[in-house]
Amino acid sequence: MKIMIINGPNLNLLGTREPDTYGNKSFEAYFSELQFKFTNTELSYFQSNIEGELIDELHKADKDFDGIVLNAAAYTHTSVGIADAVKGIKTPVVEVHISNTHSREEFRHKSYIAPNAKGVILGFGLLGYNLAIQSFLNEK
Ligand code: DQA
Repeated sequence: MKIMIINGPNLNLLGTREPDTYGNKSFEAYFSELQFKFTNTELSYFQSNIEGELIDELHKADKDFDGIVLNAAAYTHTSVGIADAVKGIKTPVVEVHISNTHSREEFRHKSYIAPNAKGVILGFGLLGYNLAIQSFLNEK
């Protein structure tokens, strides 16, 4: 099983960015923990602050991966382009958010991605990525 994790803008700052909302751990540190935990799963990770690069990566991942875990961050609430990419590929996408976006500002309540996601996990901190991976493994 091959799973790609794609993180959107500002998630490269995890660990130092708004720690009350996003915690103190960098994604690189958490990704190592995921690789240690899911030893039988081939995990890959991509992060970009650029919308088009995220779209390109979704297209690429469609050919090579069984599942995609996507935290499009702020683009979740704005990007028709990323939403169309999720709709246009065959590989299932689980949408993840570290924070509970519904308990935050109203503009974070809207997700353009959710209608075409396999499922949505939000509000469980970084654990959400772990749960998203498990959701792919448990279906086999
Ligand atoms: C986020 C929530 C978004 O609203 C925000 O723009 C982010 C991170 C989350 O993981 O909680 O950058 O996707």
